[in-house]
Amino acid sequence: MEDGLVAFAGTDPEFVRLYGEAPALGERVLDGSGNTAVPGFVDAHTHLPWEGFREDEFNRRLKGETYAEIAVKGGGILATVSATRAASEETLRRNVRQRLDLMLKHGTTFCEAKTGYGLDLPNEKKQLRALLSAAKGHPVGVAPTALPAHEVPPERRGSDALRRRYVEECRAEILPALADGGARFVDVFCEEGVFSLEESRTILEAGKALGLAPRIHADELTPLGGALLAADVSALSADHLLYATDEGIDAMAKAGVVATLLPGTSVFLRMNRYARARRMVERGVAVALGTDCNPGSSYTESLPAVAFLASVGMGLTAEEALTAMTLNAAASVDEAKVRGSLEPGKRADVVLLDAPSLEHLVYHWGVNLVTDVFAGGEHVISHGDLLIWNDPSRWTRP
Ligand code: NIG
Ligand code: FE
Repeated sequence: MEDGLVAFAGTDPEFVRLYGEAPALGERVLDGSGNTAVPGFVDAHTHLPWEGFREDEFNRRLKGETYAEIAVKGGGILATVSATRAASEETLRRNVRQRLDLMLKHGTTFCEAKTGYGLDLPNEKKQLRALLSAAKGHPVGVAPTALPAHEVPPERRGSDALRRRYVEECRAEILPALADGGARFVDVFCEEGVFSLEESRTILEAGKALGLAPRIHADELTPLGGALLAADVSALSADHLLYATDEGIDAMAKAGVVATLLPGTSVFLRMNRYARARRMVERGVAVALGTDCNPGSSYTESLPAVAFLASVGMGLTAEEALTAMTLNAAASVDEAKVRGSLEPGKRADVVLLDAPSLEHLVYHWGVNLVTDVFAGGEHVISHGDLLIWNDPSRWTRP
């Protein structure tokens, strides 16, 4: 690693031929013999700025209720919306910071993160500001997504006119403000009972016109056709896809839409169903992974945990799972040119695993194998612990 970038990747003899036997002045040698070095993980789908746990809903599901039933009774996304609206920007910032620290300890060096629990102009802006200020100076890079169309807010329910008004507010006010505030992507929860295909198209096209690249929560709970819409609007990524049809998958392959799969939600919501990752791979769709870190449908910061589920649940091999959480995830967030693999010229985001082979990433499950993390060449996790930087305002221990 040199100047924050990968300078060389290869065997010892090749290295010695190019750089000589002994380390030059100012060079540091770290011996990782017996361990496995992999690219820093990229989490392609998270919801980070929120307040309010929903462990009660999780427990109610264990007793037999479903996600949809709980949402109808006032739980679900709207429960997090009220807690997030009531929270100060500083609380949200602190929450994001803690989540980023935990992600880093599990090997994540870059993530996508969404708004979507504000659902009005001031609160969506508050979420975005909290996200960006938490990410400032943090080793985990963050690509923010504008998701005001995560749900219809409570005050815009009850009539079609009110609903239409909210879609219009998203288009004309909230998305432009979030684009101004630094968002890179636009997302929508395209689902029966949430936003229709037509409404979703309106939102995504509006975002596109503002320079935001589209991504979409598609075919998560019902086969509504979100995968086809994603292909149609040339989305960067379509996410979830548990109910994506053959036609939808083929359309995504043709349009080059990345499938960002979130198997954490399959088990967390007890769905007895996974996205058809094998079919997607066979049809030529790039498959990426994300934690979907959120309080309702997948509360985890750990991509290796998700990789385990992706392998046992969806049949991804160890190599496919690693690709899905590095290079393909980088493609999902339009970062594949600069990160996602250990190649000269790319960012030196490197994770060292306490593991003799990469298979251990999915085989040795339920424990954190990450011992060291380098972000942009900087050693930020050592022996599994956060290294305190000289400037304490850059980083505080959780
Ligand atoms: O990605 N699907 C929509 N949004 C989230 C769920 C958020 C929540 O339950 O709070 C998801 O699964
Ligand atoms: Fe999500």
